[in-house]
Amino acid sequence: MKKITDPIAESLKGAKSETLAVRAGQVRTQADEHSEALFLTSSYVFDSCEDAAARFAGENDCSVYSRYTNPTVKNFEQRLAALEEAEDCVATSSGMGAIMSLCLAHLRSGDHIICSSDVFGSTVILLNNFFAKFGVEISYAKLTDMDAWQSAIRPNTRFLFIETPSNPLSQVGDIRAFAGLAHQHDLLLVVDNCFCSPALQQPLALGADIIIHSATKYIDGQGRCLGGAVLGSKQHMESVRSLVRAGGPSLSPFNAWVFLKGLETLYLRMRAHSDSALLVAKWLEAQPNTETVFYTGLTSHPQHQLAASQQSQFGGVLSFRIVGDQSAAWRFINATKLISLTANLGDAKTTIVHPASTTHSRLNEYEQAEAGITDNLIRVAVGLEAVEDIIADLSLGFSVL
Ligand SMILES: Cc1ncc(COP(=O)(O)O)c(C=O)c1O
Repeated sequence: MKKITDPIAESLKGAKSETLAVRAGQVRTQADEHSEALFLTSSYVFDSCEDAAARFAGENDCSVYSRYTNPTVKNFEQRLAALEEAEDCVATSSGMGAIMSLCLAHLRSGDHIICSSDVFGSTVILLNNFFAKFGVEISYAKLTDMDAWQSAIRPNTRFLFIETPSNPLSQVGDIRAFAGLAHQHDLLLVVDNCFCSPALQQPLALGADIIIHSATKYIDGQGRCLGGAVLGSKQHMESVRSLVRAGGPSLSPFNAWVFLKGLETLYLRMRAHSDSALLVAKWLEAQPNTETVFYTGLTSHPQHQLAASQQSQFGGVLSFRIVGDQSAAWRFINATKLISLTANLGDAKTTIVHPASTTHSRLNEYEQAEAGITDNLIRVAVGLEAVEDIIADLSLGFSVL
């Protein structure tokens, strides 16, 4: 890149992930800044018509236009790629923008995909209401039922799409087994790694082909910006990059800069989220008005061993069913004071939500039942406050049941 240098690339060879999270991908301008520069510019000045033509032809690495080339966004892409050990990364305007870009780039009318029935609600809406309209066929299978995936494969199937652990019920997909199935049939395995982030799980190392991120969540870590990313081999990312260039669901440089700062603390934060969530999950499990707690870190979780074999820790998100109906769940949530009632997760601030009436409300009754979204289900994304204060606030919820 012209006029900016990569001061430390050499010293990062063989560096550990925690170091890459702080340092990878940084370039330094002639101003000698220490923190990453924020390039808030939509376009770039060319030296000459010859230079402009060369840049448009992709003959060098220099920037052209920020819909598809921006040094801050590139810095973010390279850092996230280093953490996921991916050859390439394409940043997008949101996590949904990442899923949409991947599907638009890789699918055509008449193709078929198999998606886990336990994915984020908007993913189902995007596939059913929009991709289906353009002739893409979609089947759903339970994350934990490999036989159902095997029998759903058709000659026109292109990829398997899973989210693990799932939102909000913390179901675990066996990434190695999914990769085996996908590759046996010449399909791609796509994993939404939003709940774990690369700090806890690296799907490519377990055999997946493509990773999706909502950077809005743990990569930001403080609930400030929307963003996303698609990662994989250069070959698989080529059409995604070209789609983002042509279609425009690009990441803003400002958001990329916030995510760069977020990545610097990712490993520390994920450890703290995981430690506190485990304590909260154990406490919830001991409460008389708890029906079930869904958290992969609990030894009572039916897939605890599987989760432990592919994640280094269990993350910050848990959900639980209380004894009672929707009105009891709403009373519980309304009684909490410290915890924020909001749809986001992955924030330093603990958040709480009633999935059936919010994040998953656009699913029909059958889809909700398939995904296990019952009226008495509550999701909590455990933040970075003192765990005693989080537990004290949840006690207010139990006190009104
Ligand atoms: C697992 C998962 N994937 C994707 C998304 C979509 O991300 P965004 O809100 O950044 O579009 C979400 C959002 O909550 C999510 O939880």
